[in-house]
Formats: sequence, C-alpha cells, structure tokens
Amino acid sequence: MNVKTMMVIGAGQMGAGIAQVFAQAGFQVKLNDLSEDALQKGRSGIEKRLSRAVEKERISEGEASATLERLQTTTKLEDSYDCDLVIEAVVENMDVKTNVFQTLDKHAPSHAILASNTSSLPITEIAAVTERPSQVIGMHFMNPVPVMKLVEIIRALQTSDETYEAIETITKQLSKTPVEVNDFPGFVSNRVLMPMINEAIYTVYEGVATPEAVDDVMKLGMNHPMGPLTLADFIGLDTCLYIMEVLHEGFGDSKYRPCPLLRQYVKAGWLGKKSGRGFYQYS
Ligand code: NAI
Repeated sequence: MNVKTMMVIGAGQMGAGIAQVFAQAGFQVKLNDLSEDALQKGRSGIEKRLSRAVEKERISEGEASATLERLQTTTKLEDSYDCDLVIEAVVENMDVKTNVFQTLDKHAPSHAILASNTSSLPITEIAAVTERPSQVIGMHFMNPVPVMKLVEIIRALQTSDETYEAIETITKQLSKTPVEVNDFPGFVSNRVLMPMINEAIYTVYEGVATPEAVDDVMKLGMNHPMGPLTLADFIGLDTCLYIMEVLHEGFGDSKYRPCPLLRQYVKAGWLGKKSGRGFYQYS
C-alpha cells in the first residue's frame, strides 16, 4: 500500500508528535482537532521542536521548512476524504474514540487504514464499530514521539495481514522499530509500566517516601533514566488513571486498583506537565 497523505486526529502531546514525524518523513499530513486553538498549540509545538533541531544541527533549515509545508491543519474529519492512513490520538476514552472511528469510517476512502494510538483500549472493540474492521489496527507511539524509537503495533482480532504489513513498513519509513503484540488490556508496554507507576504513587500515598525519594530510588538504584513519578507527570495523570481503569476492568484483578491519590490529583486538575502541576510543579 502506498501512503501519500495521512491524517492525525488530536493535536495534543502525542498527536502533534506523530504529525511531526510523518511530515518529516515526507508524508503529506493533515492534523485535526476540535478547535483552532488546539491546532495552533499543536502546530507551534512542532515549530519549536523543529527550530531546536535546526539549532542543534540535527536537521537543516530547508528540511524544517519543507516539513512545515507538508503539514496542514483542519477541524473537519471530512478532510480525511483523500487520506490513505488516519491515526487517532484523542483522549483515552472509549466513547470518544468509537465516535471518532464511526465518523471517520464514513469520510475516509474505503482503502484507508484507520489506526489508534490508544495506550490501552481494546482495538478489537474499536474495529467492530467500523465497516472495515480488517483495516483497523493499533499504532502505539511512545512519548516524546520524535525521540522514542518504539512503535507497539497491536493486532485486533479482525486485523488483516495486509494491514499489519503496511503499518510495519510505514513504521520503518519513520525510522522507528515496530514490535508486534496482540490485543489485551494495556498491550505489553502499559501492562508492565503502569502498575509500576501506580505502585510508586501508592508509596507516596502511604507516606513511605516523597516523590523525589521514590524517583531517586528508581533512577539511581534501578538505572531508570527517569523516575516513575516524573514519567507519570510527562504521560499525563489523567491518561495514567484511564489506563489503570482499563487494566482493572479488563482483568478484574484488584492488583490493578488505581491509587486513590491518583484519582484525587486528576479530580484536582493536577494532570502533570501539561497542566503545570502533577507530582512536581512546572512553570
Ligand atoms: P492530550 O490530552 O495531550 O491530547 C488529546 C487531544 O485530543 C486534545 O488536543 C483534544 O482537544 C483532542 N480531542 C479530544 N477529542 C477530540 C475529538 N473528538 N476530535 C479531535 N480531537 C479531539 O492527550 P495525549 O497525551 O496526546 O494522548 C492522546 C492519546 O495517545 C490517548 O489515547 C493516550 O492514551 C495515547 N498515548 C499517550 C501517551 C502519553 O505519554 N501521553 C503515550 C502513548 C499513547
């Protein structure tokens, strides 16, 4: 399959990063979000990252401006009419995602592959709301997208081999490494990572240690490049909570119970770096 034009839905921290790497790799990209404000925020993040890359001489000025020329923004899902691939990166909420896929299914051409960047939601269930379940797949990028090499590719029960192979090829064209996994709650990445983050939050909740101390133990003792609470702040505490809820409900096992402190932070609007405050403060 020859992908020329693609759309990314959601211009948040993941969507904007995904749009950037596709545009940098030479694809025509349409970035979609609900409002012009959100699109502007996404686009200016991309501009900043590209000019930093130029300053550090990682890319040329010509490459940066060609990347921006390949990037359009739109608030209309109808604009997916000429896209060969659409990647959804809206909030981690099943109702919102199924709504987006149903609408997309009406507007994207019949050959188009519809992918989700979901961290944990069942791709099989998302595929089932469309008329093209064999062309639906999970394409799970890591944060920050321009830096991280892994793309976890999740096969829904209905995903065809052709769809899988096309996505594997595209991932390599982005200079990233595809890893194939099956559709179970949290896939591999978040089934292993999120319980660790949740447990780190429990240690703070139970007064075992401060966030700084927990992060130091994991950085200096376990050689993690970043402590679990710093990482949780980067991921977004709302996203962490959604993922824990998916694991808890999906496996029905109390070991996945989200920490009450995580719920409280999300209720307070302390969502991590993106809101200016999480376990740490950000200016
Ligand atoms: P975010 O909150 O930064 O961005 C979400 C964006 O989606 C917002 O700009 C919002 O306006 C937009 N949006 C919401 N509903 C929409 C709709 N119906 N149509 C178009 N746009 C809509 O969230 P983030 O962190 O970018 O996460 C997005 C997805 O990526 C989630 O499914 C999350 O689980 C997944 N993900 C997140 C990672 C992370 O580290 N934050 C890592 C890998 C995947």
